[in-house]
Amino acid sequence: MAKVLCPGSFDPPTNGHVDVIERASRLFDGVVVAIIANPTKQPLFSLDERKGLLQGSLSHLSNIEIESFAGLLVDFARERDLSVVVKGLRAVSDFEYELQMAQMNAALSPGLDTLFVTAKPSWAFLSSSLVKQVARYGGNVQGLVPPPVHAALVERHREGQGP
Ligand code: PNS
Repeated sequence: MAKVLCPGSFDPPTNGHVDVIERASRLFDGVVVAIIANPTKQPLFSLDERKGLLQGSLSHLSNIEIESFAGLLVDFARERDLSVVVKGLRAVSDFEYELQMAQMNAALSPGLDTLFVTAKPSWAFLSSSLVKQVARYGGNVQGLVPPPVHAALVERHREGQGP
């Protein structure tokens, strides 16, 4: 079995991300969780903060490495000698974009395969952007994100630092 790559912005990690990573960690020998250093949108949490939040949220898994990358995913995969990307699919609406990315990545790096894990129905509506929006206006996101993420969101908005 292989070591696989779970890439994302993780700004912040949600229970949906944790579910996909947990399942990849059961199905494969190891998982490299790769945080994109420079997401297209200004992140709420810095790269170091996102790394810390993932570490705190995945400490129950023993075959996980948490890393970051800048630039193209295919270059990072090549550097790390990884040939399988695992991503979560929440709904049909995710499929079109994910398919396009998977096919572009395969065109850029033949031999790089993307496998999709279907989201648990209980997390299908979850996204980092919605979680941030709800938290920004004081909504309760406990139970939707891992406890360290919940604490960080509460702290960030108490400090009034959120964008
Ligand atoms: O959590 P996200 O925001 O859905 O993650 C998207 C991510 C980081 C996996 C994707 O944007 C990505 O791979 N970016 C790296 C740049 C790249 O390789 N772009 C070409 C892919 S078609």
